[in-house]
Amino acid sequence: MSTAPEIPNLMEAIVSLSKRRGFVFPSSDIYGGFNGFFDYGPLGVELKKNIRDCWWNDMVRRREDIVGLESSIIMHPKVWQASGHVAGFTDPLVDCKASKQRYRADQLFFSAVEVVNPEDNSKQIIGYVSALESENTAGDLQDKAESMKRKKAVRGNLVTITPRDMTEAKPEEIALIPSPATGEPGSLTEPRAFNMMFETHVGALRDESSVSYLRPETAQGMFVDFKNVVDTGRVKIPFGIAQIGKSFRNEITPRNFIFRSREFEQMEMEYFIHEDADWAKSHREWINWCKSWLISIGLPESHLTEYNHPQEKLAFYSKGTTDIMFKYPFGVQELWGIAARGNYDLTQHANASGVPHFIFDEATKKRYIPHVIEPAVGVDRIFLAVLCGGYAEEDVTDEKGNVEKRTVLRFNPRIAPVKVAVLPLLKNKPELVQRALDIYTRLKRRYAVFYDEGGAIGRRYRRQDEIGTPWCITIDFDTIEKDGTFTLRERDSMQQRRITEAELFALLEEAVY
Ligand code: GAP
Repeated sequence: MSTAPEIPNLMEAIVSLSKRRGFVFPSSDIYGGFNGFFDYGPLGVELKKNIRDCWWNDMVRRREDIVGLESSIIMHPKVWQASGHVAGFTDPLVDCKASKQRYRADQLFFSAVEVVNPEDNSKQIIGYVSALESENTAGDLQDKAESMKRKKAVRGNLVTITPRDMTEAKPEEIALIPSPATGEPGSLTEPRAFNMMFETHVGALRDESSVSYLRPETAQGMFVDFKNVVDTGRVKIPFGIAQIGKSFRNEITPRNFIFRSREFEQMEMEYFIHEDADWAKSHREWINWCKSWLISIGLPESHLTEYNHPQEKLAFYSKGTTDIMFKYPFGVQELWGIAARGNYDLTQHANASGVPHFIFDEATKKRYIPHVIEPAVGVDRIFLAVLCGGYAEEDVTDEKGNVEKRTVLRFNPRIAPVKVAVLPLLKNKPELVQRALDIYTRLKRRYAVFYDEGGAIGRRYRRQDEIGTPWCITIDFDTIEKDGTFTLRERDSMQQRRITEAELFALLEEAVY
C-alpha cells in the first residue's frame, strides 16, 4: 500500500481528481481560467461547508465565551488607513524589464558564485546565480553555480552557496543577478512595495474620493464592531469574536493550486484578554486548541509542526506569532497563524474614529484597552490539506484474484462530503430498490447521502472511495427476507459486516458532529 507522502506526483493527482470528481474547477474555465481564482464544484462545496460548520460549531456554538459576526466585505476606507493596510499591506516586488515578468522579492533567491584558488587561497566572484523559491532552493543555486564554473572553465573550489533573497540584495548586486526568465543579468529592478489590496469605487463618482477596498482579511470587522458587540451586553473579558468570510489579495504569485489564491475564505477569531493577563499562556492555549481541532477533522498529526516567527521580524506591536505548518506535497507551509497582537488594532481604531474602546475593570476601577490573541486560518488551505493528507492509492485484490488500483480519500466522517452511499445489490429487483430508497430517504433528512444503483457493486464502492465516502450500505435479499440488516462496508479497512438501521444511525451520531 502506498500512502500520500510517497506518491510522486501527488499534487497533479489531486488537481486532476479535484476536477474529475467535481471538487475544484479553475475559475472561468471555458475562457481558459483566471489565475488565482477557483470554483468549488458539487462535492467541493459540501466539503468546504463541512469544514466551515465544524469550525463554527467548535469555535462558537459549543463555547460560552465566543460570539459570531458577519461584517461587510467592503468597509469604510478609513478602516484600512487606521489598520495600516493602505500604507503597509505590501509585498516587495521585482520586475524583469526584458520579459515583463514580476516576482516577489522574498521568493527570488540569489547567490554570488565564489571560487577559491587552492594555490594561494584567494577568492574570486565569477558571477551570480538566481532561482525561484522551491523545496530545494539551495540545491538549485548550487547546480547553477557548478554549471557556471564549468562553462567559464574556472579552476578552484566553489564556496558553498548561501541563498539570500532579493530583499537583501545590495544595489550594486542587482545589475549582476540573472533574471529567472531570461537567465541573463541586467534586467531586474530594485524591489519596490506593491499594495495587495484590490481597489474599487463606491458610488457614481470614479475618482480618488470614491476609492474603497475589498477586504484583505476578515479580522478588521471584529475590531471595528468591537464596541457594538460589547455594548450589546452578552460578553465579558476574556471573550472572542469569530467570523468566516471571503478575503481578497492581489497576490503577485498565486500558486500551488488553492494554497495561495487571490480570492479565498478565512476563519478568524479575535480573543480579547485583560491587558494584565498572561498573554503567553493564552497564546499557547490557542495554538494547542487549533492543533487539536485540525486533528479532530482528520489531519495527520505527523504532518503538523509549529514555526515561531523570529522576534526581530515581528511587527513592532506584536508580542509573538506562531504558525501551525502543514507538510504539503510542495513543502512545509503555513496553514494557521496564531498571533498575539497586543492592543494595537483597538487603539488604532479608537484614535482614528475618536470613539473610545475601553473596558472598565470592576476590580481595580480602571479603564483599559484589551489585548488580543488572533488565530487566523484559510478554509481553502485546510481544504487542500485534507485532500493531501487523505489521498492514497492502493493495490487491492478482488474476489476473482485480480489486482487493481483503488484511489481513496480518507476523509474524516465529520468533513466527508457524502457520509453514506446507499446501494441496492441489483437494480432490476424492485423490492431491493424500494427498500434502498426507503432507507436513503430517512438518512437524507439528517445527512448528506448518495444513492447509486448503477454498475457492479465493486465498481460502486471504488467510486465512493475516490470521493471519500466513509461507509457504503448494500441492500440485499437478506435485508428483505430475513432480519432487515444490510451490509455496511467501511472505506478504509474495506471490511464488511451486517448492521441494523438503528445501529447505522447510532454510528453516524457518534462520528458526525
Ligand atoms: N488577520 C491576520 C491574517 O489575515 P494572514 O497570515 O495574512 O493573517 C491568515 O492570513 C490565514 O489566511 C493564513 O494562515 C492562510 O491560511 C490564509 N491565507 C492568507 N493568504 C491566503 C491566500 N492568498 N490564499 C489562501 N489562503 C490565504
